[in-house]
Amino acid sequence: MKTPERPDWPALTAAAWKASEAAYAPYSNFRVGAALWMPNGEIFAGCNVENRSFGMTLCAERTAAVSAVVAGHRRFLAAVVVADSKEPPRPCGLCLGTLIEFGDEDLAVRLLNRAGQTESFRLGELMPYPFSADELND
Ligand code: THU
Repeated sequence: MKTPERPDWPALTAAAWKASEAAYAPYSNFRVGAALWMPNGEIFAGCNVENRSFGMTLCAERTAAVSAVVAGHRRFLAAVVVADSKEPPRPCGLCLGTLIEFGDEDLAVRLLNRAGQTESFRLGELMPYPFSADELND
């Protein structure tokens, strides 16, 4: 039986690698794939999309997040990020900030490279002191 609260790691990993094949990375040649797990068991994937104006580049985690939000999701439970990198690819600050917007500190993050090296974190470990939205809601 499908238990949406428990991420399907093999399916997430496969979706992230597949998305990485679509990466648009002509400037860095660094192809990244990401996949996010929703509370209903759906998976949304993304890849990095670079731009000639480098600062406009979108990371894989953020394109995945945007596609989940477009589909109506507002809460993510887990994320996988993959790349053909020496070390498992750690998300940048902008991507951590995006994940914390739709996750909490217990969002499970798994990072993998092609060699099969894996790192697992809670989002709270990667981003221990996030900007809090509490101030904005008063
Ligand atoms: N990149 C990601 O896709 N995710 C990250 O968290 C860090 C960096 C991409 C952006 C750019 O296309 C390439 O990796 C090199 O920075």
